[in-house]
Amino acid sequence: MIESAAGSLDPTLDLFSEIDRLRKDMNAVILAHFYQEPDIQDIADIIGDSLALSQRAAQTEADVIVFAGVHFMAETAKILNPDKQVLLPDLEAGCSLADGCPPDEFASFLADYPDHKVVSYINCSAETKAMSDVICTSSNAVKIVDSFPADQPLVFAPDQYLGDWVARSLDRPMVLWPGSCEVHEMFNEKKLVELKITHPDARVTAHPECPEAVLQHADHVGSTSSILAFARQSDARQIIVVTEPGIIHQMQKENPDKEFIPAPGNDETCNCNECPYMRMNTLEKLYLCMRDRTPEIIVDSALAEAALTPITRMLELSR
Ligand code: 13P
Ligand code: SF4
Repeated sequence: MIESAAGSLDPTLDLFSEIDRLRKDMNAVILAHFYQEPDIQDIADIIGDSLALSQRAAQTEADVIVFAGVHFMAETAKILNPDKQVLLPDLEAGCSLADGCPPDEFASFLADYPDHKVVSYINCSAETKAMSDVICTSSNAVKIVDSFPADQPLVFAPDQYLGDWVARSLDRPMVLWPGSCEVHEMFNEKKLVELKITHPDARVTAHPECPEAVLQHADHVGSTSSILAFARQSDARQIIVVTEPGIIHQMQKENPDKEFIPAPGNDETCNCNECPYMRMNTLEKLYLCMRDRTPEIIVDSALAEAALTPITRMLELSR
């Protein structure tokens, strides 16, 4: 039985129809990331990668945005929609990249690079965004970095591995903030190579938040939407997936005749490598946050205004 501030949840409650009813009553849109649990992906109005979700958040006419994702995603939606209510099923659903770039430390880091422009991955706080010239996601990072003149020195934050992958793709060195995704940096290179040996016909798709040692074994590297496109287009019958395994739900739905094999992390007790923050959201918490209209994302208006400029720049450059 689920406990909430309002008491216990009736176990006979049909959460799918209750969420559907609330969505209509509230004129809400439910946005979900591909790493959410299957039930949440299935009930969402829109599922997507970070770029698609921020684009859809910028366009929505709903009164309430329910964000089934992590805090920085819901915060970005709020910055884009200061007059709408934005709900997140679990306020603790953070991100190691955002948490690993404290604004005061980032400000003193940037003080050493006064001539640099700052490109920040969307996986960061509103404060970090406000110190940036432009935001990017893994879908558009190469394009955004390439939009600066070749002689413009750049700082890339907070994901050193994504920054490193972009720098190698463009042959363009950048100053990298030393942050990482605690999920993607856990993929085990040795186990991945072993998996390739036991599945010689499989192709490997990986997210650029992984370190280069892992990416070098991939046939394809890209954002979650690019990973889904690769799965659709590849002739391979077996695909090894080097990102959060929540995405396999969509891969399997779109390609029922293909086999998707999650790449192992470093945990010796299981072959799983789930994002603990993404997995904090459950169908029950989604229902409760809509029923009780809390937890709600609140962003200071001056901070939101400062963070909006680099987000808007990203959306314009991504058209
Ligand atoms: P994308 O869905 O934009 O590829 O991002 C992955 C991610 O880690 C989101 O937290
Ligand atoms: Fe953050 Fe990594 Fe989880 Fe994405 S998968 S939310 S980058 S910790």
